[in-house]
Amino acid sequence: MTKPIRRLGVLTGGGDCPGLNAVIRAVTKSAIYNHEIEVYGIEDGFLGLIENRIRRLHSADVSNIITRGGTILGSSNKADPKRFATGYNESGDPVFEDVSDKCLKHIEEHKLDALCLIGGDGTMSGAQTFVEAGINCIGLPKTIDNDLHGTDITFGFLTAVETATEAIDRVHTTAQSHHRVMIVEVMGRNAGWIALYAGAASGSDVIILPEIPYNLESICDFVRFRSKHGKRFSIVCIAEGAKAEGGRQVVSRIDPTSPDPVRLGGVGEQLADDIERCSSIETRAIVLGHVIRGGTPIAADRVLGTQFGYHAIEVLLAGKKERLVVMRNQEVTDINIRDAANKQRLVPRDHQLIRACKAVGTCFGE
Ligand code: F6P
Repeated sequence: MTKPIRRLGVLTGGGDCPGLNAVIRAVTKSAIYNHEIEVYGIEDGFLGLIENRIRRLHSADVSNIITRGGTILGSSNKADPKRFATGYNESGDPVFEDVSDKCLKHIEEHKLDALCLIGGDGTMSGAQTFVEAGINCIGLPKTIDNDLHGTDITFGFLTAVETATEAIDRVHTTAQSHHRVMIVEVMGRNAGWIALYAGAASGSDVIILPEIPYNLESICDFVRFRSKHGKRFSIVCIAEGAKAEGGRQVVSRIDPTSPDPVRLGGVGEQLADDIERCSSIETRAIVLGHVIRGGTPIAADRVLGTQFGYHAIEVLLAGKKERLVVMRNQEVTDINIRDAANKQRLVPRDHQLIRACKAVGTCFGE
């Protein structure tokens, strides 16, 4: 017989994103109001589980948070229980240890019957440790990158797109007034979802995605052609994970203590230098960076977070195990959590939105 769920642990892992608090609120209130489950907030993702920083969440703790960005629980994108950096050796390299036993001990100490893991692929990979140890886990798909396998959408993505779109809209003024090429670099890791959607929404003239390596000559021909035909400016929206044909992604920093140590960034600046040199049109680049991860979630992400959080509790109560809440064909449903671990959902080259953008004259740098 399935053990009833009386005490539930909740954590948010990986990079923060808008909508996390909406999910924490939905999970906590649904659990308390409808099923009298005690909810325990685990601070800073898996780090709080490792360090035993776990506190009771009452409904008052999650009141008035649906509008807030970030996460009231804190997060960490470095604490993988199977490979946790506990110090440095003499050469200055991090030393890793498997600290899953500590986490399991703390789960037992707090008598948690299930874990609600709100995160992206890193968190879902980390969840495998607990799934394998027989802990009942439910995952909720978070990330601005929208690259989690198994779901059509992750919460946080639409707010990031909205913020990026507004920023690109604002850059139009300078591009037009100064007859420049303006490049806006957006986050997204190896996936181009944010660049594609924000590029499409802002009417960017050029959209550069990691999934379609760019050809510098094609971009220069395109902006020169526009200039010659009276459009004396061009807007380029580029994903941080983009790379030139035959080239490599541009890395801004390496964090050796992180399970995913590469931080991307800088391709926009590189492309700006190249475009200016080859087209002789003044070109500037800006990097939106963490700006698109912050701020209040838009209504769509609050709604999605509420639907996901509610569904997570229903799934747990139905006695289903190892599930990930997902959106498929506009319906909230759930899949096996293992199906989302260690996989990325990239933009297909023949995506309908790419075809639509091409039809209205957008250049993808091919
Ligand atoms: O996964 C979310 C994300 O914002 C990516 O788009 C970006 O590449 C990465 O996190 C940045 O990570 P950090 O906050 O550690 O710099």
